Amino acid sequence: MDADLLRADLAALYPQFGLRVAHRGTVLLVPTDEELLELAEIVAEPGGVVEPGRAGELMGWPEDEGAVAARRFVEWAWRLREAPTPTRWRAPFAVLDGGRVLGLAVLAHELDDPAGTARTSSWLARAEQGRGLGRRVRLMLLELAFGPLGMTRAVTAAAVGNEASRAVSAACGYRETHRATGSDGVVEVHAAVTPGAWRKKRLRDVDVEGAEAFLDAIRG
Ligand SMILES: CC(C)(COP(=O)(O)OP(=O)(O)OC[C@H]1O[C@@H](n2cnc3c(N)ncnc32)[C@H](O)[C@@H]1OP(=O)(O)O)[C@@H](O)C(=O)NCCC(=O)NCCS
Repeated sequence: MDADLLRADLAALYPQFGLRVAHRGTVLLVPTDEELLELAEIVAEPGGVVEPGRAGELMGWPEDEGAVAARRFVEWAWRLREAPTPTRWRAPFAVLDGGRVLGLAVLAHELDDPAGTARTSSWLARAEQGRGLGRRVRLMLLELAFGPLGMTRAVTAAAVGNEASRAVSAACGYRETHRATGSDGVVEVHAAVTPGAWRKKRLRDVDVEGAEAFLDAIRG
C-alpha cells in the first residue's frame, strides 16, 4: 500500500496518524512500521543515540544493543498505539529531516492534568545532535501543544548531567520547577514552560496539520 494511503487509513481509526508538523525541511509524523524500523536501526547501533557509558543520563535508557534493543524499542512504540482519550493520549513523532528519519519526539498527556499539560521527550541519532535540530523539534512540539491543542503548560525532565537536553529546555523558555532522585539514583531536573514564555522563542512558519480530529478525541 502507498505510504500516504496507509497513514490516511490509520488516521481514520487513530487520529494521531493524521498529525503533521513541518518547519522548513523538518517534518514530525507519527511513525508507521516503516519509520519505526528505521528508528529501531538507530537504537540498535552501539552508541547510536547515547555515548556508551552515559546511558544513566537518559533516565532509564537501557544499555542493550542490536536486535534486543531494536525489539524493545519497536514493542514500546507499538504499545503507544491506542485511540487518544481525554485522560490518556500520546503522540510519538518520527523526526524526518531532508526525508531521512533521524529521531523520535513524544508529546503526551500529563497524568494529573491531561486537558492542560503536555509532557515532551525526545532523542536524536548521535550523528545529528548538536546542530540545533533538538531545539527546533521541541519548538515544533510546543507549536502543536500551545497552538491547536490549546495546552496551558508543557513539562519535561532531564538528568542533571544531560547538558544538551537542559540547554534545549532553557532555550525554549522552560524554568526549573523541582528536582527529584529516581530509583537509579540519578537526579532529575524537572522544568515547565507556559505559552507566554514559549511565544518569545516561537519559530516562524511552523505548519501544523491534522490537529482537529486529534483535538476532538482528547476533548471527548
Ligand atoms: C537532547 C537532544 C534531543 C538535544 O538536541 P540537539 O540537537 O543535540 O541540541 P541543539 O543542537 O538543538 O542544542 C540546543 C541548545 O543546547 C546546547 N547544547 C547542545 N548540546 C550541548 C551539550 N552537549 N552541552 C551543553 N550544551 C549543549 C546548544 O548550544 C544549544 O544552546 P543555545 O540554543 O543556547 O545555543 C539530543 O542531544 C539528544 O538526542 N541527546 C540524547 C538523548 C537525550 O538525552 N534525550 C533527552 C532525554 S531527557
